Amino acid sequence: MTKLPFPKLNLLVVLLSLISMLACNSGSNITFADDVAPIIHENCTPCHQANGGAPFNLISFHDVAKRAKMIALVTSNRYMPPWPADKNYSHFVNEKSLTDEQISIIKQWFENGCKPGDTAKCRLPESAKYASVLGKPDMIINAGQIQITGDNKDKFYVLKMPYQIPKAKFVRAVEFIPGQVKYAHHVNGHYLSFTNETNPFSGIDLLDIESDKYDEEFKKLSLLNHDGSAPFRVHSAFNYLPGAFGIRYPAGIGGFLLSPKGAFVANDIHFGPSRETVTDSSKLYLYFSDKAPERTTYELMMGTNGVSEIVPPLQVPAGQITNHVSKLTIYNDISVLTVNPHMHLIGKKFKAYALKPNGDTVKLISIPKWQFRWQYFYTFKNPVRIPKGSTIIVEAQFDNTANNPDNPNLPPLPIGERLDRGGASMRTTDEMLQFIITYMPYQKGDESIDLSK
Ligand code: HEC
Repeated sequence: MTKLPFPKLNLLVVLLSLISMLACNSGSNITFADDVAPIIHENCTPCHQANGGAPFNLISFHDVAKRAKMIALVTSNRYMPPWPADKNYSHFVNEKSLTDEQISIIKQWFENGCKPGDTAKCRLPESAKYASVLGKPDMIINAGQIQITGDNKDKFYVLKMPYQIPKAKFVRAVEFIPGQVKYAHHVNGHYLSFTNETNPFSGIDLLDIESDKYDEEFKKLSLLNHDGSAPFRVHSAFNYLPGAFGIRYPAGIGGFLLSPKGAFVANDIHFGPSRETVTDSSKLYLYFSDKAPERTTYELMMGTNGVSEIVPPLQVPAGQITNHVSKLTIYNDISVLTVNPHMHLIGKKFKAYALKPNGDTVKLISIPKWQFRWQYFYTFKNPVRIPKGSTIIVEAQFDNTANNPDNPNLPPLPIGERLDRGGASMRTTDEMLQFIITYMPYQKGDESIDLSK
């Protein structure tokens, strides 16, 4: 045993450091301004702001202090922020999930009386200022107003958003900002560029076109340019789902050229049933880039309506739990940027990975407890390379028993893909199994691209 030269002094040092540890643990100097606001603004405000889909704001000291007890609870039990993907399986940009330390800071702050600190120095987070995770847009296109009548029925609209700008621009990202966040269910939109002089929309009611007139209207939209060419089109130029955030890849990846004259078309905007009559004024936020799009991004869809079949077919008998697989072998090297798993209400588990020709596994995503309401587009921190000859495998489980609290039918009824309608169904009470992969053809060095930039 070592003999300590100054045993008393040593004891004093130990005691002093114990006291300071206790003082620290008591959280006496934890304040909203210094410690809590940065955690809340990064992880909560993107949803808990006017346009974010959550029922109340979490921005100011008062917003947070008022609900501090509840916030301490829902962060400790990891109910908030919602992040269904398994963090032990794979990692993504903007992973909304708190560390144990952050959870403990919030808890201590609450237990010590929610000290404000110098709140004057708290800056309004970008997501709250612009109601968008991507921050300040370079251009805003207003969609005009749609009245959603309070007849408690689903509604589908085509939204046309023509624009004119002095000269062409490179667009890096487009984000759809719903006006009525409570009712906006999903949106899928395209970009059309025109070179003809006349406004192809003239004479067409720009708004409020019900889906039954859709085909007829879209024919008119496909007017040829005056030189006889068809308008240049970008499919899926923007998409929206509740809980999904805008995606912006590094300059040069994806994106397109915005011509001086053109239009964005949301060719199916779905509003859920509303009992009150409300007016929607949605917007598009455009983010420009000085850099030309050098790398084209593509989408690959597996499962329902996609390029790979579901085995066994997605029909879940009443009272049963079923497992399904969908496999796709790829013949070129790809760099995966973003993945989006999609199922409806009775989905329970989802996993996707690739098996390389040498037998190694490339992990993509695992969702051990499926949550219907949080269907994000998950973007990897760095592009994930899948070499040619690999097989991408999607495994999913569905629970159509009465024990499943999310089962829309009690007693359970058979649920599955709507094969009579080509598979996909907008109705959440039908089922779907889809895996959408956004990728670009692999180039050397892709693994080191930082997708958060
Ligand atoms: C992806 C969007 C999203 C994020 C991120 C998010 N929330 Fe929420 N939050 C919601 C929605 C939507 C609700 C209401 C529905 C619900 O309770 O699920 C909600 C509800 C809540 C509730 C009320 C729970 C209840 O049972 O009444 C609290 C408290 C809360 N959030 C706190 C937080 C905190 C704290 C964070 C960050 C650490 C956070 N949220 C991050 C979307 C989000």
